[in-house]
Amino acid sequence: MAEKRRFMTLGRHIEEGEREHPGATGDFSGLLSDISIAVKLIWREVNKAGLINILGSANRTNESGDEVKKLDQFANETIRKAMDHQGHLCVMASEESNGLIKIPDRYQKGKYVLVFDPLDGSSNIDANVSIGSIFGIFRRVTPSGPGAVEDCLQPGYKMVAAAYVIYGSSTIFVYCTGEGVHGFTLDPSVGEFLLSHKSMRIPKRGRTYSINEGYYSRWEDGIKEYLRYIKEDDPSTGRPYSSRYIGSLVADFHRNLLYGGIFMYPCDKLHPNGKLRLLYEVAPLAFIVEHAGGRASDGVKRILATKPESLHQRTPVFMGSEEDVMEAERFLSGVAAFEST
Ligand code: AHG
Ligand code: MN
Ligand code: MN
Repeated sequence: MAEKRRFMTLGRHIEEGEREHPGATGDFSGLLSDISIAVKLIWREVNKAGLINILGSANRTNESGDEVKKLDQFANETIRKAMDHQGHLCVMASEESNGLIKIPDRYQKGKYVLVFDPLDGSSNIDANVSIGSIFGIFRRVTPSGPGAVEDCLQPGYKMVAAAYVIYGSSTIFVYCTGEGVHGFTLDPSVGEFLLSHKSMRIPKRGRTYSINEGYYSRWEDGIKEYLRYIKEDDPSTGRPYSSRYIGSLVADFHRNLLYGGIFMYPCDKLHPNGKLRLLYEVAPLAFIVEHAGGRASDGVKRILATKPESLHQRTPVFMGSEEDVMEAERFLSGVAAFEST
């Protein structure tokens, strides 16, 4: 008889995770639940963005020099307001906030730190292409009181949890607290995230690559050699790979997590440190992909071992199926190009 399908809500999954840690205070679970509420509020606006005056530009740029969309601003404010008074956090940092997001004096300071990209893939909003939100959670390193920048500038391996949401044909919340990667699909009829992807594992090797080939002329030779290699017609090694590039990091990442593949945003002449931000875009996804059996590096060094020196620091990134990322790294180091001649 088919196993009776238990409806496992995100809230219950978080609670069960807490029960496995006898010393847990409920603080961490409360924080994760607050994030899921903020995300539902963003989902509600994303789903009707075309009907209300929330599309288009907010007529300003952020610290990274990106044009800020109204939905970026809405998502940023929604998360800040949902998270700043529950007593779980001592400080926050966001792609859309230049400096630290301080917890107001009137609210209790908690032991966690939240870093986030409130809306990823903004350039796709008005075109109704999948977009997302990305979250990373650290324990504070300062002893007490208001959090400080050093509480945010921690290497990714110190993360206690990471999550992303993809607002697409369905809205999926994927999170990891170090015990597997689990995906939950929002059932709008009940307003609950229900477990749909238990213990996600990324295939060791994929057959797709994600990169913006428009920048080909600006890349270093190792990248060009690697792309030439995966495009060679050799079906016995699964080549050529297919190109899949949505331009929303979360959407490209989620597809590669499900099917296998490699996502690349290298540095180039215009982006000497790459385009994507280490703290709140790349490190949380690197945490998730490693816990799903994948790999994430800057081409040389493990992403999670890199300590950010500033909140909006950029990094090149190669992440996804372990064998694909290692193969790309060999081309970047020049070794593979020599071997394949
Ligand atoms: P954000 O919308 O948060 O600024 O992120 C956009 C990022 C990321 O989502 C995507 O992978 C990348 O920008 C696409 O950059 P290009 O348009 O240069 O390919
Ligand atoms: Mn982003
Ligand atoms: Mn963003």
